[in-house]
Amino acid sequence: MRPFGSAKALAVLLSILLPAARPAAIPSFHRRSMPVIVDERSSARGSSSSSSSSSSRTSSASASASASPSANSNPKSSGPTTEVQGGLTGVLMTLPDQIEDAGLKRIPDDQHPFIAPGPDDQRGPCPAMNVLANHGYIPRNGIATFEELTTGMMEGFNMEVHFAAGLSALNFVSRGNAFANKISIGGESILVPPLPGNIDGNVTGGIAKTGRFEGDASMSRIDANLGDNKNFVQSKFNLNLLQLGKFGDDGPDGNNTVVNVKTLVAMEKTLFELDQKQNPKFEFPARRMFAAYGQTAFLMAVFANGTTNATTLPILDAFFRNETFPENWFRAAVPITGGTNAKISSQIAAAIPTKPGRNNEKGEYVEDPEPPAPFNSSLPCAGYLDQAKSTPAVLQNTTGIFKKNVDFLTGILFAAAKVNPGCTQFAPPSGPANV
Ligand SMILES: *[C@@H]1O[C@H](CO)[C@@H](O)[C@H](O)[C@H]1NC(C)=O
Ligand SMILES: *[C@@H]1O[C@H](CO)[C@@H](O)[C@H](O)[C@H]1NC(C)=O
Ligand SMILES: *[C@@H]1O[C@H](CO)[C@@H](O)[C@H](O)[C@H]1NC(C)=O
Ligand SMILES: *[C@@H]1O[C@H](CO)[C@@H](O)[C@H](O)[C@H]1NC(C)=O
Ligand SMILES: *[C@@H]1O[C@H](CO)[C@@H](O)[C@H](O)[C@H]1NC(C)=O
Ligand SMILES: *[C@@H]1O[C@H](CO)[C@@H](O)[C@H](O)[C@H]1NC(C)=O
Ligand SMILES: *[C@@H]1O[C@H](CO)[C@@H](O)[C@H](O)[C@H]1NC(C)=O
Repeated sequence: MRPFGSAKALAVLLSILLPAARPAAIPSFHRRSMPVIVDERSSARGSSSSSSSSSSRTSSASASASASPSANSNPKSSGPTTEVQGGLTGVLMTLPDQIEDAGLKRIPDDQHPFIAPGPDDQRGPCPAMNVLANHGYIPRNGIATFEELTTGMMEGFNMEVHFAAGLSALNFVSRGNAFANKISIGGESILVPPLPGNIDGNVTGGIAKTGRFEGDASMSRIDANLGDNKNFVQSKFNLNLLQLGKFGDDGPDGNNTVVNVKTLVAMEKTLFELDQKQNPKFEFPARRMFAAYGQTAFLMAVFANGTTNATTLPILDAFFRNETFPENWFRAAVPITGGTNAKISSQIAAAIPTKPGRNNEKGEYVEDPEPPAPFNSSLPCAGYLDQAKSTPAVLQNTTGIFKKNVDFLTGILFAAAKVNPGCTQFAPPSGPANV
């Protein structure tokens, strides 16, 4: 049985995050009835063999989206942009403009030198975020606003605004303060207060807190259940390098040093096998499977040298181990869209038969039940529902600027999810608080 359809369909279905074709200036929510172009160009920005699917596809997004929040993009012009609730000042979030000089550029520029983090600076499980902070593309203390995270991803990695905003939104609804507009890219911080009324407990977790977005089978971190899930672990990362040594393409740095899809598939299989065996409480639900394959795809889509489109062993080493931009590295020549990344993650998903699931008490991997229709239409759609079910329901019960920000963030996530054909239903936050 193939609940998520054929491999070819997956290539389209998996493009959860938004395509390039959408003009940044037009709020996605106002374009509900318009066709969405799922951009599939530049599949393998490396030298892997790419499945020769059509160059672009049109899918109708005539979503029965009536249940979605009456979201807009938090217009920059009207209404107050700050508000006090429970002694805390809230700040209205806005979607930054797509950066204008979104071309090939050597990164870092002179304004963004590497400075190692100090003892009070937050760093976490996401190497890309740590690199952006180490170079000041986001605040060096590791505490950022929605706009800062999104703009940092655009400037440092040339990620297209909707792709960047989708990732910011995921992190903010799960582990940020969506009212104060602050998130820690690491652990808890006094600079990120709890939500008004402590509705999600008396602290705000930060990206490193496991359970909602952060999860098992990471490329370079230990499962939270087994130890430190925040810091780079060379021995775990070496497993990936072993796969590169077996499956990588040849390049200027040597044979088997250039990342391709085969390498990524082997990596994901290896990481799953290791952690499923080692971690009695191993969990790989739909949201985590979707995120894990998406993050692995970053290696080719986001970390590649923009002049060659190749991700090499030294490039991986710089990003993961040193948490710095590699020497003489160029960001992508054209903005990287969610579709670009999804083209790669869909190939990973198609090559691995494992279904979302988790270990039982005996340490045996058991598949999760399939989600109800229409969320069973694709892995991205299943992941979208699963993520909403891990987002505190109480966020729905907020008011004023807090509610506006929640609607803004969940609206971004739904807009991304419904790019996948059949993923037509808004999933409100419906998970437990204070976990
Ligand atoms: C989703 O579930 C519905 C209802 O059980 C079923 O009819 C449909 O075939 C399923 N879709 C997929 C893609 O499995
Ligand atoms: C790299 O990818 C970009 C975007 O797809 C493309 O325009 C460019 O020609 C590629 N460059 C090389 C050297 O392959
Ligand atoms: C937060 O709540 C926990 C119990 O849930 C308690 O142990 C802790 O002292 C509280 N911390 C603060 C700063 O209120
Ligand atoms: C790379 O592989 C080719 C054969 O595929 C071999 O001729 C060459 O010596 C190898 N290069 C290195 C640096 O090992
Ligand atoms: C990583 O850091 C080490 C120690 O500072 C340095 O020797 C090495 O050149 C760096 N490598 C990369 C790829 O940045
Ligand atoms: C990126 O590609 C350019 C052009 O080939 C090259 O000079 C540079 O060294 C490469 N950078 C890295 C980090 O591989
Ligand atoms: C949201 O508010 C409604 C109405 O007051 C209440 O019934 C519901 O339990 C609240 N939900 C949460 C998750 O707090």
